[in-house]
Amino acid sequence: MFDALTAQPPDTILKLMAMFRDDARADKIDLGVGVYKDATGLTPVMRAVKAAERRLWEVETTKTYTGLAGDPAFAAALTTMILGPGLDARVAAAATPGGTGALRQGLELVRMAAAGARVWLSNPSWPNHASILQYLGLPIRDYRYFDAGTGGIDFDGLITDLRSVKTGDVVLLHGCCHNPTGADLDAGQWAAVAELIAAKGAVPFIDLAYQGFGDGLDADAGATRMIAARFPEVLIAASCSKNFGIYRERTGLLIALGDPARKILVQGNLSFLNRQNYSFPPDHGARLVTMILGDEALRADWMAELEEVRLNMMTLRLSLAEALRLATNTTRFDFVAQHRGMFSRLGLTEAQVNTLRETCGIYMVGDSRINIAGLNAATVPVLAAAVAKVLG
Ligand code: LMR
Repeated sequence: MFDALTAQPPDTILKLMAMFRDDARADKIDLGVGVYKDATGLTPVMRAVKAAERRLWEVETTKTYTGLAGDPAFAAALTTMILGPGLDARVAAAATPGGTGALRQGLELVRMAAAGARVWLSNPSWPNHASILQYLGLPIRDYRYFDAGTGGIDFDGLITDLRSVKTGDVVLLHGCCHNPTGADLDAGQWAAVAELIAAKGAVPFIDLAYQGFGDGLDADAGATRMIAARFPEVLIAASCSKNFGIYRERTGLLIALGDPARKILVQGNLSFLNRQNYSFPPDHGARLVTMILGDEALRADWMAELEEVRLNMMTLRLSLAEALRLATNTTRFDFVAQHRGMFSRLGLTEAQVNTLRETCGIYMVGDSRINIAGLNAATVPVLAAAVAKVLG
């Protein structure tokens, strides 16, 4: 049987992780996978998460199964954090293994409900979006997104491409902190995109993996809230990996907003999909999130630490933009200070990215995406000097 298998292409980001691990150089710099690191290079367990784990260890009396869609208290707490209160009647939701699990379950729901739907992806997008879509056999369409010349949004290209969306298509949007470019739509651009997609009768599917890493917890949910209020049906794949720092706990939520009359039907389908794919979703991370969001002191401490994380990344952005300006004697990289979240795409060629890795031990994704949080005050000038050198 196994001789019929063919080798799978490696995931570019995970392959880079392994290459970095195997590199013996002491001064190597990891700007690859999207994991937050503090100034010492550590991905800390957040204070509120530690406190909730301690408390949970004391009070948890059973490890028996939860519901197929996870604990409803988790869905309620996270949905309120994302969308604000008052939407219960429209919300069906299922806990999933991480944000990727939510994407996968959401796209399976699309395949069940709308067999002919094409799924529109920003070009570029997180590579696993297209990979999962191909695996599921869903047709993919691209919409232009990034202007490599300016490091900003190619808004004319985006609107032109989205004019070809058809009724019933699904448009995948990054709610904030676009991965891999770091370039986000502004409020006016979001409004224009929403108007166009609504006029086409398409369904927005929002990937929200970095809430709190851009402009703040509420600000980063602004576009998602606007879309939730405007569209009759919306899918949202939310991740707690980054903003709660619980990457390996695999904590995500798929939210399906729709007509209250169909809430039970949709909820039943989400539970069915969980049962088919893994039965009950992981609970530990979801329980920590529920405890933190439901306890005033834990929530305040978590929000304060999340804000420290966000501001650290903003400080790194500003100092990298400045260091690149000095090292290259150009304003070419000023966009780094405008971008939001963990990532910026620098606009280097693949050959330049390879040279940085081979000669300087600086690891970034092949499209020149860097993880800002992989830097610190000491490595910012090192990166800037190395980029100036490969540019010649
Ligand atoms: C990333 O883009 O680096 C993260 O979302 C981690 C991953 O799974 O790729």
